[in-house]
Amino acid sequence: MSEQNPYGGASASDGPKRVRTRHFQNAKRDGIKITGLTSYDQLTARIFDEAGIDFLLVGDSAGNNVLGYETTLPVTVDELIPLTRAVAGAVQRAFVVADMPFGSYENGAEEALHTAVRFMKETGAHAVKLEGGERSHKQIRRIVQSGIPVMAHIGYTPQSEHGLGGHIIQGRGEGLEQLLADAVAVQEAGAFAVVLEMVPADAARQITERLDIPTISVGAGPHTDGQLLVWTDWAGLTPGRIPKFVKQYADLAGVLGAAAKAWQADVSAGVYPGPEHSYE
Ligand code: KIV
Repeated sequence: MSEQNPYGGASASDGPKRVRTRHFQNAKRDGIKITGLTSYDQLTARIFDEAGIDFLLVGDSAGNNVLGYETTLPVTVDELIPLTRAVAGAVQRAFVVADMPFGSYENGAEEALHTAVRFMKETGAHAVKLEGGERSHKQIRRIVQSGIPVMAHIGYTPQSEHGLGGHIIQGRGEGLEQLLADAVAVQEAGAFAVVLEMVPADAARQITERLDIPTISVGAGPHTDGQLLVWTDWAGLTPGRIPKFVKQYADLAGVLGAAAKAWQADVSAGVYPGPEHSYE
């Protein structure tokens, strides 16, 4: 769904056209790849939007990228709401998806709807995402029946890290049957798209062929209808090991570290601030 295609191309006269759920569906029909990145603030949201990224996910990965937690488990709705509002307020074209954090929908359909309504009313997001296939189908159905689009998320689901026994690839061997059942369940419940995280490429291909709704890969190989990455991994900000499926497109940690050192050296040497940075 780049700017060269009819689904969201910028026009000089009326500004960029908002990506909507039907554009996800059309992209799958026409074999046009969908792109998504996470974003947690207005500055990156604006940059990614202007670059033509189709959707921005305000992920609960804010937990380990912004909020200082080790996992996504402690993240709350109240913590994600201001981040989501900042992202939604900064974009003109991109479709903004609010991630429902752990503990905000597992109790049942009514709790899920309550959380989804909060995100829609308080942030300006265009859809919500929640984790789980068969186990979350009632929640997805209830939210969708209320007019809120849902992006589903199956395969490796980080909120269930402990239940799954760690960062383990899902859908291998006998696990494929459950993965297919999960994919069908979220489609039947009304999800407009489904994220497949850390599943073998061939399993993702089978699901993509089986489903009418678009599949979005996070570490699920090339055969899906779209790709999504956590922006800090993709831009080289995340310290330490990054997952095998991430390709780094920048070295922001290197750039910022070098800038900080250069500035500190200039301050120490009395070179900064110069006359051009000082008021008369
Ligand atoms: O929170 C997040 O960033 C996510 C993606 C990894 C799918 O859920």
